[in-house]
Amino acid sequence: MSKVLFLNGSPRGKKSTSAALGNYLFDFLKDMNFETKMLINRNQIGKEEKIEELLKEIEEASYVILLTPLYDDCQPYNVLKILEIIFEKQMNLENKIFLPIINCGFPEPEQITEGTIPIYKQFASQVGFKWGGSLSIGGGEMLQGRYGKQLHEVSQFAKNAIEELEKIAESLKNKTEYPDTEIILVPGYFYKWPLKNLATYMNNKGWKKVAEKKGEKVDATPLL
Ligand SMILES: Cc1cc2nc3c(=O)[nH]c(=O)nc-3n(C[C@H](O)[C@H](O)[C@H](O)COP(=O)(O)O)c2cc1C
Repeated sequence: MSKVLFLNGSPRGKKSTSAALGNYLFDFLKDMNFETKMLINRNQIGKEEKIEELLKEIEEASYVILLTPLYDDCQPYNVLKILEIIFEKQMNLENKIFLPIINCGFPEPEQITEGTIPIYKQFASQVGFKWGGSLSIGGGEMLQGRYGKQLHEVSQFAKNAIEELEKIAESLKNKTEYPDTEIILVPGYFYKWPLKNLATYMNNKGWKKVAEKKGEKVDATPLL
């Protein structure tokens, strides 16, 4: 039986979009008789025994699926740290497949594909992982993972993600290639007038509210 290891790189841990995406694929693969294991990265990078546990899990896995948000067009610290640990250990990763599933806050998945996918590809080829394709998801907050919601609880917004996660599962089962894929979660008309203007207005209002709460003077115009 092939083992699939999920590494959850969201600093939010269990209540995150990364976790919601991972949980769906985890259950789907389990039903297909894959052996599955999920680790939360931030719990694995402190103590030596936790790092050893992580390395053992990677050693036993046939597939390593990284679930992570995009942070500053790049990777959160815990993800970088794990990539470093794997690199430094010089493990034998021959025939192990690495597949990142990345979500970002901005609606466009190009935020991910333009910068960070090439970094993950470079990492995979340097350490000896086989590239298993990737899934880049724009507008990840629509899935409301930070409130602990699962994909089946957010109706239409999860539709595209569910479709792709099931394709990933099929590709693992049939040992076929999954392509580098990018999806949006919000239908295209949300990005056009009048919904686009409404969304921008609401977003600005939201950001200002948070800033005000933190004591910022949001309407200050110092240069005038
Ligand atoms: C420190 C930080 C940096 C971020 N940088 C970006 C970014 O560069 N581009 C983007 O589209 N989203 C960015 N985001 C938004 C997250 O990628 C987004 O909220 C994502 O859905 C979080 O996923 P998670 O729940 O799996 O952690 C950033 C969020 C934080 C907290």
